[in-house]
Amino acid sequence: MLKENYRLYNGVKIPKIALGTWQISDSDVIGTVNNAISIGYRHIDTAVQYENERGIGQAVKECGVARNELFVTTKIPHDVKSYEGAKQTIEDSLNRMGLEYLDLVLIHSPKPWEELFAGSDKTYFEENLAVWKAMTEAYQSGKVRAIGVSNFEISDIQNLIDHSNVKPMVNQIRVHIGHMPTEIINYCQTNDILVEAFSPNATGKLIGNPAIEALADKYGVSVPQLSIRYDLQLGLLPLPKSTSKDHMKQNAELDFEISDKDMTILGKVEEIQSL
Ligand SMILES: NC(=O)c1ccc[n+]([C@@H]2O[C@H](COP(=O)([O-])OP(=O)(O)OC[C@H]3O[C@@H](n4cnc5c(N)ncnc54)[C@H](OP(=O)(O)O)[C@@H]3O)[C@@H](O)[C@H]2O)c1
Repeated sequence: MLKENYRLYNGVKIPKIALGTWQISDSDVIGTVNNAISIGYRHIDTAVQYENERGIGQAVKECGVARNELFVTTKIPHDVKSYEGAKQTIEDSLNRMGLEYLDLVLIHSPKPWEELFAGSDKTYFEENLAVWKAMTEAYQSGKVRAIGVSNFEISDIQNLIDHSNVKPMVNQIRVHIGHMPTEIINYCQTNDILVEAFSPNATGKLIGNPAIEALADKYGVSVPQLSIRYDLQLGLLPLPKSTSKDHMKQNAELDFEISDKDMTILGKVEEIQSL
């Protein structure tokens, strides 16, 4: 599975499973990413806000795998909402990582976290367009191979589609067993925007859930294997995070098929909070 790719609508290949790196420190992440790459992971997901870009850049340079075989994603912070701010953020990420280009840059959130989590209906359409302009320029100059968004609702994406010549290639959103935002997934898939599934294990909360464990047992796999396989069978790109080499290895052993009946059961699991 680690050798398989999706293809973004602009033709760029993107490895089907990424290593998530949220809540891994800048010093620890060096060893974690080196372990992941030694197992065969080729796709690393970070963000300015994870404060570990420097360590990831170091691992990418030291790991012994050619840069063009690796796929590195970062994200423009929730509160950077201007053209100049976004332009500077991309330069800063490149410098911190010591890389000549990034594979994917996302807008981390359509609005500042406080407003997103409070469910505010205030939109940042103009501001996101300004950020998108800086990203589009970085994309067209070759500093970034693909651009996209994260935590975006349909109206936030439609705003970019309606007012820009470059459609987002990716929307990274929370999707896991017990949290299935069908409407936005369908919208993205209809518009050829790849959906990346963050927190595929609900930040660990899926593990130990008796009903999900019972289904995993049926296939002779762990809950994380079931949840990652579930995302893949929906055409999504899962970003499991692990600091354990054994877990990382296990999370890529996905040579089983969840039946249609069990996919339906998993799609109807009651809401599970991740944070
Ligand atoms: N765009 C956004 O706003 C956003 C938000 C949240 C997350 N993300 C991205 O999505 C990534 C993943 O989400 P997440 O960090 O919430 O975590 P997650 O992948 O849902 O869950 C991680 C937890 O699962 C455990 N785990 C993983 N594989 C396991 C296995 N095989 N057996 C037992 N336990 C296992 C990990 O522990 P061990 O370390 O011990 O394996 C860790 O405690 C993030 O790291 C980040 O890159 C993006």
